[in-house]
Amino acid sequence: MTWKIGKIGMIILIGFLMIGCGQAVGQDDVKDEVNEDIGANDKEEKETEKITIGLSVADLTLERWQHDRDIFVERAEELGAEVLVQSADGQDERQLSQIQNMLSQGVDVLVIIANNSDALSPVVEQAHEEGIPVVAYDRLINNAPVDAYVSFDNVRVGELQAEYLIETVPTGRYFLLGGAPTDNNAHMFREGQMNVLQPLIDRGDIEVVGDQWADGWSAENALSIIENALTSNNNQIDAIVATNDSTAGGAIQALTAQNLAGEVAISGQDADLAAVQRIAEGIQSMTIYKPIKDIATRNAEVAIELVKGGEVVSDERVDNGAVEVPFVKLEPILVTRDNIIDTIVFDQFHDFDEIYRNVPEEDRPELP
Ligand code: GAL
Repeated sequence: MTWKIGKIGMIILIGFLMIGCGQAVGQDDVKDEVNEDIGANDKEEKETEKITIGLSVADLTLERWQHDRDIFVERAEELGAEVLVQSADGQDERQLSQIQNMLSQGVDVLVIIANNSDALSPVVEQAHEEGIPVVAYDRLINNAPVDAYVSFDNVRVGELQAEYLIETVPTGRYFLLGGAPTDNNAHMFREGQMNVLQPLIDRGDIEVVGDQWADGWSAENALSIIENALTSNNNQIDAIVATNDSTAGGAIQALTAQNLAGEVAISGQDADLAAVQRIAEGIQSMTIYKPIKDIATRNAEVAIELVKGGEVVSDERVDNGAVEVPFVKLEPILVTRDNIIDTIVFDQFHDFDEIYRNVPEEDRPELP
């Protein structure tokens, strides 16, 4: 009985808090919630109540995450939930306080794209204590009781990048350009890259002439890393293992300044519009297309399933230092000049005309 009164009290309190915060919960919603059969258990209640998802995005200034946000919100709303979205703009502290704020606003589930995979334990623990499930979206959160991790096969991403580069440049001088060292994914990508490169390094076919990581995955950091690398290597670099498209963009800017764009093989990831345009123009070798529709919709579905008390159907479990987290693992797709149409255009991820904007009409492929 005490529990029931406590719960009703909590619903009223959350209702008032949300009205106070100008959220999309009106007076009627609060009344409906209070009038519900107080004998109903949590799961049944969640079938009828509107579920509120807190989506905490690491950094909405990067193109990739804007697609994720849009598709996630669309799918969640289709399933009858509402979503509070916040971007931490690449700031660890801001993400922590935004998540605390979401918890105090009474969200039913948290979906987090971590800015720093090692910095979120306090809020994930707090959520766990309050019975609020937490989904790690794309990036694993370490050392915390996370309920599910929905991402791509990130080790495979790194392998695909390196496989393509060694096919194009089987011997030569390689520069390794890692992502944000605070992002767990950046380490998984590197693991995959090294799975492929290490045997060639051991054989002496590949010489690694530098290895640096771009803080915040920023193009500016990548630009200055590659500017310096070109200077210190007298421009003698044959391939750059860039881990995503924003860093590839910065690196290609440095190459362009030395008239080397298109001469040096360079990888990428995310199929950002600018990167796909560069591939069409022949100045970036490849990217990895990770269908955002898949990851965004799966995350929304898993989040709602968890609120309803369901089981997460996962491919495997991954140890995050605290628990074995169910890992829903999606397949990444290699994109080169040869399959832009079959992948990116076919999926309507980007528009044909936009991709080939800088390519003379006679050099454009034909649309099937
Ligand atoms: C990674 C993500 C990549 C890339 C990068 C920078 O965690 O898996 O797709 O976008 O962040 O945002």
